[in-house]
Amino acid sequence: MRLKSSAVITGVGGYVPDNILNNSDLEKMIETNSEWIVSRTGIRERRILDDKSLATSDMATWAVKNLLETTGLSADEIDCVIVATSTPDHLLLSTASIVCDKVGLTNAWATDVNAACSGFLYAFTMGASLIEGGRYKKVIVVGADQNSAIINYKDRNTCILFGDGAGAVLIEPTTEDLGLIDSIFRTDGRGREHLLVPAGGSMTPATPESVAANKHYIHQDGRVVFKAAINGMTDTCKAVLARNNLDILDINWLIPHQANYRIIHAVGDHLGLPADRVKINIDRYGNTTAATIPLCLWDFKEDFKYNDNMILTAFGAGFSWGATLLKWGKLRTA
Ligand code: UT7
Repeated sequence: MRLKSSAVITGVGGYVPDNILNNSDLEKMIETNSEWIVSRTGIRERRILDDKSLATSDMATWAVKNLLETTGLSADEIDCVIVATSTPDHLLLSTASIVCDKVGLTNAWATDVNAACSGFLYAFTMGASLIEGGRYKKVIVVGADQNSAIINYKDRNTCILFGDGAGAVLIEPTTEDLGLIDSIFRTDGRGREHLLVPAGGSMTPATPESVAANKHYIHQDGRVVFKAAINGMTDTCKAVLARNNLDILDINWLIPHQANYRIIHAVGDHLGLPADRVKINIDRYGNTTAATIPLCLWDFKEDFKYNDNMILTAFGAGFSWGATLLKWGKLRTA
């Protein structure tokens, strides 16, 4: 069954820090080499928010300001802001409320969503539902993560992978057959041990021992996550195509979560999608968790045409994963 679409993306903004951590830099920090990193992950460099006085909310703020500038909207027109992040500025209080203050979104209510790498997709569908319900007219959804705050730069299994950044989209109502068509999401908490930050939450509050044991950093069982990511993204992409009676060749663009270019290529191959329809920017940013998909939309927005069919797909901690089908519309201009 094809669901009626009525919430469309009308603006895209983004922000990445200026500071670049490239593979040669990492060669000086850990036992690794650029060739290994490129051939196993596709990553050449990542952006790092190195100013200790800044945090996830600052990157989200700059992405939202960029969005407002390019759409020509004023801050007081925004009804709601949802920030997808797993690196909030604080454990208690939403990063979204800080963004509201820093941007000056005086009429918006705001909250966070934590679904790790799938956070943006989940938040986008939630934001679209607010529009489809008819009560809200302008919703901003942000994906933002400062992964450098939770990375152990002595752990070569993880520190080569992640970077910092933020992307934002504006969603508005439309009477045209555009925008969000359908989403298929899955969550399986049995996968939680394979990708997590073990301490700092209510299960294991911070103690000198937890800090000494490096439990406040990302821990990942890469091989398990790798396989689950390929299967999960492929299955949900196929399911959303089937539910909407679409063939893979009806899809103009696949926007996958950027965790590993081998995962991305495997998903594209399993779906039978020509490689030139798959958007990849992992070489420049690494894995920015909730920011990868909106940063792809921001980077490649000039390529997307009115009426293009797109699938956005992600897999991440939780485990959480899914695929969203949408039709590209027209972006506002200032
Ligand atoms: O965004 C959330 C979802 N996350 C993901 O999707 C990430 C999924 N996982 C991955 O992308 C990959 O598993 C990694 C990139 C993390 C690792 O690639 P891999 O091909 O699975 O490598 P591996 O973990 O099986 O390790 C292969 C070898 C090992 O050596 P031995 O045991 O074969 O001697 C590792 O110790 O590569 C070694 N290795 C490294 N060598 C050089 C691991 N990390 C490095 C490194 N540099 N940075």
